[in-house]
Amino acid sequence: MEKSIWRKKPMSAYEADIKNNQLKRVMGKWSLTAIGIGGIIGGGIFVLTGTAAHYHAGPALALSFIIAGIGCVFAALCYSEFASMLPVEGSAYAYAYGTIGELFAWIIGWGLILEYAMGAMTVAVSWSGYFNKLLHLFGIEIPYYLRNDPWSAATFAQANNLEPSSFAFNLPAFIITWVVTWILVKGIKEAANTNNLIVILKLAAIIFVIIVGVFFVNLDNWHPFIPQTEMIMHDDGIAKEAYGIKGIFSGAAAIFFAYIGFDVVSTSAGEAINPKKDVPFAIIASLLICTVLYIMVSLVLTGMLNYKDITGDALKAPVAFAFDKVGQPWAVFIITAAATAGLVSVMLVMMLGQTRVFLGMAKDGLLPNFFKEIHPTFQTPWKSTVLVGLLVSIVASFTPIGILSDMTSFGTLFAFAMVCLAVLILRFREPNRDRPFKTPLLNIVAPLGIITNFALMMLLDGKAQKFAMIWMLLGFVIYFLYSRNKSKLND
Ligand code: ALA
Repeated sequence: MEKSIWRKKPMSAYEADIKNNQLKRVMGKWSLTAIGIGGIIGGGIFVLTGTAAHYHAGPALALSFIIAGIGCVFAALCYSEFASMLPVEGSAYAYAYGTIGELFAWIIGWGLILEYAMGAMTVAVSWSGYFNKLLHLFGIEIPYYLRNDPWSAATFAQANNLEPSSFAFNLPAFIITWVVTWILVKGIKEAANTNNLIVILKLAAIIFVIIVGVFFVNLDNWHPFIPQTEMIMHDDGIAKEAYGIKGIFSGAAAIFFAYIGFDVVSTSAGEAINPKKDVPFAIIASLLICTVLYIMVSLVLTGMLNYKDITGDALKAPVAFAFDKVGQPWAVFIITAAATAGLVSVMLVMMLGQTRVFLGMAKDGLLPNFFKEIHPTFQTPWKSTVLVGLLVSIVASFTPIGILSDMTSFGTLFAFAMVCLAVLILRFREPNRDRPFKTPLLNIVAPLGIITNFALMMLLDGKAQKFAMIWMLLGFVIYFLYSRNKSKLND
């Protein structure tokens, strides 16, 4: 049989997949919404807001959040239409396989590894940073060579005139990854319950930042709301253009990472009680809730301090820093504790998403069977979960991952744009298919989604773009050497 790169998975095969689902269906619409919020609210809002206000947008940061939020809403609407039609675990990968073709689907699945696994690595390292800060507030210090990867440890030793250590390893990042892996292997119910609890905590922390922060807002800090363009010196000693209209857009790309996560809901379709209705609800609800909160946090932060005084240094935890500056150091403890807890659920959700995408790809034969083995008691894809845990823990504890967050954004934006494209194609090709959720004004929403997400991709860090392209090329090689020959569609 001809192994066309355009061959599509027939809809009947999806229906068979849904019937043969071995995962436990335990999640209702609010648990699914909590999965979305669990993935969205993490380090991004606590860290990138400072960077984006200082180096990109100034007080107009709220507009950057609105722009990135609009790009995400377009994608979320398209995801929802697909999720209601094909409630299977592979997310964007599965949607593309049924509509555009195998190679495209494979590349999207491959790109999703950038979003989920790499996202989890980035978050594991951020978690370690927050955890160390929390310990520091209690006067406890982990030796620098046990909380940094070898490269960061060497830089730290040099900067602080310390004896360089021959061995270094990010122990907290390693441990937290295995804790999350263990919860995910244990069962989806356990993972969902842990996530629900953390989501309540982090929502409380964000609302706390907004309510307490409002009392320290000085309206003068919002003037001018869109500062004039000027050159700003970055940490690497290079001056770059900031502010103005362009700054609002580059700010939107810089904070995009903070929005990542709502799409993970679509990977949980196999575990949803009523996926056709509840997955679209949860995708849209989680995104809207977080967008409103994010816009409020950015207004409060830029109102509390002049944008030039907001630290752009991620390591200084900008939101906590702002509270310290206005004389509320106790708030630092609450924000640090909330971020530490909050990041655990981001990892949980990202790793959950990764294993479910692998499961979808393995069921189609594009990945080895190993990825679809379900534990007889826990009913989770445990082997793949342990493998993902192993990879995430090793990379997170041994590599400096400065640009990984931009690579994560790249993979996500790519998937978003592709979902918008795929949903549009399917509307034309199969207009009469049953769509429990229909994206309103799709002819406008989908093209705008494609344009916005591609534009944001182009605004990401150049080095991250190059690495992401190399990753994609590697994906092509694996497809032609392995997946194409093993595809179930060959049978
Ligand atoms: N949106 C997630 C975060 O900000 C990935 O940590």
